[in-house]
Amino acid sequence: MHLLPKLNNCKVTIVGLGYVGLPLAVQIDKTLNCHKTGQKLRRKIVGFDINQERISELKKGFDRTNEVKDNDLINGNNISFTNLESEIENSDVYIITVPTPIDSFNNPNLKPIEIASKLIGKTLKIRRDNELIKNIPIVLFESTVYPGLTQEICIPIIEAEMVGKVNKDFLCGYSPERINPGDRGRSIGDIVKITSGMDEITANWVDSFYASFIEAGTHKAKSIKIAETAKVIENTQRDLNIALVNELAIICRKLNIDTLDVLEAANTKWNFLDFRPGLVGGHCIGVDPYYLTHRATLAGYSPGVVLAGRRINNYMGDWIIEELVSVMTSEGFTLSRSTFLILGLTFKENCPDMRNSGVIKLIQKIKSYGISIVVVDPFIEKTDKNLPKKIDFYNKIPTNQKFEAIIAAVAHEQFKLLKTEFFKQLIVEKGKFVDIKGIIPRELNPIRL
Ligand SMILES: NC(=O)c1ccc[n+]([C@@H]2O[C@H](COP(=O)([O-])OP(=O)(O)OC[C@H]3O[C@@H](n4cnc5c(N)ncnc54)[C@H](O)[C@@H]3O)[C@@H](O)[C@H]2O)c1
Repeated sequence: MHLLPKLNNCKVTIVGLGYVGLPLAVQIDKTLNCHKTGQKLRRKIVGFDINQERISELKKGFDRTNEVKDNDLINGNNISFTNLESEIENSDVYIITVPTPIDSFNNPNLKPIEIASKLIGKTLKIRRDNELIKNIPIVLFESTVYPGLTQEICIPIIEAEMVGKVNKDFLCGYSPERINPGDRGRSIGDIVKITSGMDEITANWVDSFYASFIEAGTHKAKSIKIAETAKVIENTQRDLNIALVNELAIICRKLNIDTLDVLEAANTKWNFLDFRPGLVGGHCIGVDPYYLTHRATLAGYSPGVVLAGRRINNYMGDWIIEELVSVMTSEGFTLSRSTFLILGLTFKENCPDMRNSGVIKLIQKIKSYGISIVVVDPFIEKTDKNLPKKIDFYNKIPTNQKFEAIIAAVAHEQFKLLKTEFFKQLIVEKGKFVDIKGIIPRELNPIRL
């Protein structure tokens, strides 16, 4: 029988302090009484990240992802941030929240999660060899993975590195994160957490641990594999639903029918799902389906529907620009003497994250026609290293210039407030509006998806 960490008094290390890891660390730190039992919680939280700059910023109380309040960092209860491995050796619980991206061939890039698993293995070895703590450590993964990855890849790495065995030297669980960055109405504590463990005892411990700080409660999955699969299919389903309306948008345009009017009509049926066409980017919806299809292919099945959805969604940026350019050339615009204004660069509204943004692909397509562009995004800093090279970038819309086309690409709150007169003063005569996100007033007759 293992001595399990005390639920109300344990040291928790979060490995990877990005959009997922930081809010999680703060949520655990902020919860002083267990939501289930009311018991007082005395936990110590250590946030670990390999990015030294991120750690220095967090220590100063600045979160560049805008997900947590500065005050929660500076005046936290018992939370600290470090990039020193030596400071995480004596923890009871390790939660891994590192990225799980794809490579240029859309295959899973497992490097970050493999490196993090090695670090955990090394740390657990030191912890055991030096007899730092009596109880058995619990390792939890939250990164999105394909079904089986935790047990097939991560656990063997930890075992090899620590020269030990799961269920003897450490316990393991998986709990996918379902947060929606930028969504102020639905934060980590408001979303039911799926939990799982390698065996019944671990699963119960993991479930009670999350239930203590997630107000919305938990769902204990029957196995780690089920919890892993639930997460990837949530995002795969969303990707496919968007792909369907995107394809509908292409068909409607060919038939000269307004897609949004069609959706508005169809939505009056109780079981019609309300999805809107648009660009799919970021590191979840556009990435997770590839984790599922990768594992399916390894298992000898070639997924058709899921990959078809991915193809449609990846094509939308090109399609929008091809349509716009065809209209403009037929009306006599000279593309090489045109400048397009693009509203928004991030992959989604009200958030500074531009990883895998569909707008970046859109920009590449526009540039391939020799068209100049001006990009405006109030959420991105001009100094951001990820900004695409050689673009005129602003935080505010420049009003000293007129554009041949204006493309509303991201529905940031600031853009939604813009009025017809404002748009009119920015556009040349017969200039075109393209409204990807329903921001541009209808009377301006925008090309809509
Ligand atoms: N962002 C979301 O909306 C979201 C939602 C649900 C699930 N997820 C999943 O959660 C995971 C994390 O995503 P994210 O958006 O927080 O990523 P992120 O890029 O914002 O943050 C990851 C952090 O991990 C750090 N890191 C990388 N390798 C590390 C290592 N070996 N040791 C310590 N730190 C390391 C990075 O420096 C970075 O700060 C991914 O698997 C993602 O798919 C993300």
